[in-house]
Amino acid sequence: MRTQVVIVGGGPSGLLLGQLLHRKGIETIILERKTRDYVLGRIRAGILETGLVDMMREAGVSDRMDKECFIHHGTCISYENEMFDINFQELIGQNVIVYGQTEVTRDLYDARDACGGRTLFEVEDVEIRDAETDSPHVTFTIDGSAKRIDCDFVAGCDGFHGVSRKTIPDTVRKDYEKVFPFGWLGVLSETPPVHDELVYANSARGFALCSMRNEHLSRYYVQCDLDDDVFEWSDDRFWDELKRRLPESVADKLVTGPSIEKSIAPLRSFVCEPMRWGRLFLCGDAAHIVPPTGAKGLNTAASDVHYLFKGLVQYYQDNDTNGIDRYSERALARIWKAERFSWATTNMLHRFPDQSEFDLKMQRAEIESLHYNETAQKWFAQNYVGLPY
Ligand code: FAD
Ligand code: PHB
Repeated sequence: MRTQVVIVGGGPSGLLLGQLLHRKGIETIILERKTRDYVLGRIRAGILETGLVDMMREAGVSDRMDKECFIHHGTCISYENEMFDINFQELIGQNVIVYGQTEVTRDLYDARDACGGRTLFEVEDVEIRDAETDSPHVTFTIDGSAKRIDCDFVAGCDGFHGVSRKTIPDTVRKDYEKVFPFGWLGVLSETPPVHDELVYANSARGFALCSMRNEHLSRYYVQCDLDDDVFEWSDDRFWDELKRRLPESVADKLVTGPSIEKSIAPLRSFVCEPMRWGRLFLCGDAAHIVPPTGAKGLNTAASDVHYLFKGLVQYYQDNDTNGIDRYSERALARIWKAERFSWATTNMLHRFPDQSEFDLKMQRAEIESLHYNETAQKWFAQNYVGLPY
């Protein structure tokens, strides 16, 4: 087989890149290790920045999103019984939307089907070869038979556990990592959201987050131990713990019900440099991870897709390599700022096992600065809605 760009990974980064390139007449083949149902079954991000929303429009896949999304003009932060609102709209005239990653992915798969784009599912043993030459190729097996695709470029959109990043030799690649000493236990329930905005809660019992997908579907998280087993968390235990971490005014309104999904995710900050090796380009979680506190994971994946898409179009339309040559530098400049915001909000809102009384006072002073200082709120708002591309 031959194509222009092989995209490894059929998650949101790979699908969005594929759709944008298709609209510019650039052909792609997407290789996905799992089934489509498996990819669509993963409950992940819920908050989309304007940059990603604009790209969904540019990719021609925004109809349902524009109809069904919630626009959020701000977000709430609580500490013990205090709660305050950071109003992005008033502070900086911008907002974010609530629209689940599952829906983004579904819309992108539907669009790919409609335009006849090729996606191969349940591929195994993917290997990216000769990436440092002008004629890379990708080998894999599907239904037990070995295949090869020759191409101009490979986009590594295969998430944190994929093969793309590991293809870059250790002598070239440098990884930066911080693993946090806790996880998030997430629950999805068919109950109305407790509040009309998200509530990020710092409490003596640990962090909690009240989020949502639509008026009938809520997404809640509590900070948990890394070695907690999801089976030890009955629904009753979860609701009880969540309530204890929220201000009374919010806890009193919480509608509980059976969970329809429950999972634990570890928290990690991770960046790999560079994000390009020859004709291989890393995008999204393949190159970087943020702790979810700032809602930046999917949104940083989208900014990578933006820079790579522009670079590839410049290459194919104008025979100009400037965009692809500067891809890694441009993407990383934005990534490190999102890493800093996600790390800072994680530090501000969670309880750490080794936190001293002094550390707790510092955390409290930081939250109070955000509560009462408009400049601090503007900084938060600019980062939360997403820095410009
Ligand atoms: P993935 O979604 O990981 O997709 C990669 C794909 O590649 C997968 O489908 C995988 O099966 C496939 N793959 C892997 N290896 C191979 C291989 N060898 N061959 C072929 N295919 C392969 N982000 C936000 O912006 N906002 C949020 O509110 C938010 N909340 C989150 C909450 C949780 C609980 C979690 C876990 C994450 C959250 N994120 C959030 C992060 C966000 O979900 C990720 O950043 C996003 O999924 C990255 O997309 P991706 O396409 O780069 O990677
Ligand atoms: C979510 O809705 O899943 C969500 C929202 C905001 C975050 C993280 C996750 O910061």
